[in-house]
Amino acid sequence: MSEPLVLGIESSCDETGVAIVRGRELLANEVASSVEEHVRFGGVVPEVASRAHLQAIVPTLKRALEKADVDPTELDAIAVTAGPGLMGALVVGLSAAKTLAAALNKPLYGLNHLVGHVAVDLLEHGPIPKCAALLVSGGHSSLLAVNDITGDISELGATIDDAAGEAYDKVARLVGMGYPGGPVIDKAAQEGDPKAIRFPRGLTSARDLEKHRFDYSFSGLKTAVARWVETAELEGREVPVNDVCASFQEAVCDVLTAKAIDACNHLEADTLMLGGGVAANSRLRSLLEERCQAAGVTLRRPRPGLCTDNGAMIAVLGSECVRAGREPSPLTISANPGLPVEQVILR
Ligand code: KG4
Ligand code: ZN
Repeated sequence: MSEPLVLGIESSCDETGVAIVRGRELLANEVASSVEEHVRFGGVVPEVASRAHLQAIVPTLKRALEKADVDPTELDAIAVTAGPGLMGALVVGLSAAKTLAAALNKPLYGLNHLVGHVAVDLLEHGPIPKCAALLVSGGHSSLLAVNDITGDISELGATIDDAAGEAYDKVARLVGMGYPGGPVIDKAAQEGDPKAIRFPRGLTSARDLEKHRFDYSFSGLKTAVARWVETAELEGREVPVNDVCASFQEAVCDVLTAKAIDACNHLEADTLMLGGGVAANSRLRSLLEERCQAAGVTLRRPRPGLCTDNGAMIAVLGSECVRAGREPSPLTISANPGLPVEQVILR
């Protein structure tokens, strides 16, 4: 068989993504985001996201097919995010994918969103070796052990409370900045002193490391920032917003990178993959580069546009599954908001 032509649909959060790949070549990648509709709420509202997916899914599908100049009958498979994510949002993409698969009589691959974040780098930097992967976004923060992207992945650790991006969004709200918080804090931090305030590094004490060596926790950090700001205000001091942002960011990036390098050592992996919206963070990138170099680890990171949620990550993971001869999902699958990363293809 020549390189498989696969259409991928992503709708797990606030982005409706549809992409088409031939093998590892990206032919179209269309994304409609509802982020603007969530701004006034300071976070993603599931009902609003579901409605936006419903409105966007058909036009986005049409645009992707047009851009790739592909007739649906030519497709070899339909891939779709089956979980994890928001139930109401996942259902929209999955229904569209099932309809296409049934109508066109093509195999359906209900895929894991987290694995898609790792797989997307295939499009940029080719085959993915055995590696550790750090996924950081508004919805997830996890460390993965990747043996085979189409079927042998396990979770080393994950956040036990807030995701890293969620912490950025909450701290941004606290200091009166906009949503999403990541980019604004990243910018403000460049004008601040990362050593001005020593904020706590979650789950790094010797006792915590025994049980949570590869886990993260950002809710204590968020509370520490809130208390610090509150105290400064009560004492009538001006809050040094840039220093608060830089010190908060340093605490997040310090823990994310330290545990990611520890995961590489533990797995004896010489490659670290980075993915998710927070991968765009300038400090995370520089600190990871520094620490990876010191540890003799190669850092792989897709371009920012592919780090955030999109259809390409699902389409290319689908194409890898077809290439590897993996069995497709039955048409009867249901979306699974808590799909564990070990289940690359939902059965
Ligand atoms: O992967 P993504 O687009 O969606 C989810 O699956 O959540 O990630 C969005 C998250 C938001 O929380 C946003 O604040 C964060 O990524 N983010 C950043 C940066 N750009 C986006 N966080 C830190 N620094 C950035 N430059
Ligand atoms: Zn994501």
